[in-house]
Amino acid sequence: MDRIRIHGGQRLNGTIPISGAKNATLPLMIASLLTDKTLVLDNVPRLADVGLLQRILGNHGVDIMVGGKRPGETQYDGQTLHISAANVIDTTAPYELVSRMRASFWVVAPLVARMGEAKVSMPGGCAIGTRPVDLLIMALEQLGTQIEIDGGYVIARAKSGLRGGEIVFPKVTVGGTHTAIMAAALANGTSVIENAAREPEIKDVADCLNKMGAKITGAGTSRIVVEGVARLSGARHRVVSDRIETGTYAMAVAMTGGDVVLENTQADLLQAGLDVLTQAGVEITPTNAGIRVTRNGSGLAPVDVTTAPFPGFPTDLQAQLMALMTRAKGTSRITETIFENRFMHVQELARLGADIRLEGETIVNRVYHLDRGFERLEQKLSGCGADIERLVSG
Ligand code: UD1
Repeated sequence: MDRIRIHGGQRLNGTIPISGAKNATLPLMIASLLTDKTLVLDNVPRLADVGLLQRILGNHGVDIMVGGKRPGETQYDGQTLHISAANVIDTTAPYELVSRMRASFWVVAPLVARMGEAKVSMPGGCAIGTRPVDLLIMALEQLGTQIEIDGGYVIARAKSGLRGGEIVFPKVTVGGTHTAIMAAALANGTSVIENAAREPEIKDVADCLNKMGAKITGAGTSRIVVEGVARLSGARHRVVSDRIETGTYAMAVAMTGGDVVLENTQADLLQAGLDVLTQAGVEITPTNAGIRVTRNGSGLAPVDVTTAPFPGFPTDLQAQLMALMTRAKGTSRITETIFENRFMHVQELARLGADIRLEGETIVNRVYHLDRGFERLEQKLSGCGADIERLVSG
């Protein structure tokens, strides 16, 4: 198992290229199941979870070709995937695969919409709270899917196709919204999704589906209308940049001090997160290239933050913010509202407090958790002056 060694205290200066968003890439790859034509995705991050989803889709008969090197390309440019679900040979997603990544459960929607059936294991995945799928199932039922739960599997059937319907989510859910949009795209008639998630990744997937011939309006707002079409075609789409990776490096600069330009990203993808950093005393300047983050000399002020669905402060940046606020002068208050028990990092931070004072060097174990969501983290940071290296296990 790889580890990462960090000798703290170096300021960060330079540029960090931001990769394509994992949380857009996964549903975009899954959306390829909706068509027998080829979907080409650019700016796909090199992440363990992308590789895992590739295997899961492969099991359904999906062919994925990874584009080769192109002139002038650097190691940080995203990959291009050519995805073809021309022949879906298996509509079952087994426990062994789904349990390793929760988002793979979402294959249920395009499979039932296009093939009329799907048998998908209930997810396991990340250990943050219980993450039920009741609202995803509700959405599928509203569109005419018969659902049966048997032996830990969700069996979804719609032999004569899905029909448009009204879906009112009692709680904002990203996965529920993706599921509803994908299923409604091929349903017979018009669907309305109320209290939809407004995350930029929802809009990115809807934009791609519209290029494929879907008729989706309102993505990015809480009311989405989908006029179903009989079939979708192929398309080429560039994955939106990763706002969580952006926010994470912005917080790293806030923590160490320094001056870094985060490239290939936009402030409006994470305005709530950047506003919190501004309150803490960090200088944030949107530029043509991306976002410039500076902290020189000044200390950090404490903040009071509550996580919320987009456009609120993202739960996926909550742990990073907590780490940052250990460096602020005064008491911060952080309230988690999305996943009640997403506080496993609290004990680890408490331990780190002791370690930092003792030796100034930190070893991070089980780096595969980072590799699931962050591309070349140690290289991006060392490129800006951090004393950090990966210790590859033999
Ligand atoms: C997505 C993101 C994840 C992020 C989360 C919240 C991806 C691949 N993952 O996860 O990084 O942390 O959004 O922003 O995009 N819920 C139910 N019933 C359901 C579904 C969800 O009660 O059927 C609850 C969940 O327990 C949670 C809340 O709704 O409390 C939000 O979950 P949801 O938005 O669905 O998260 P994911 O889509 O799994």
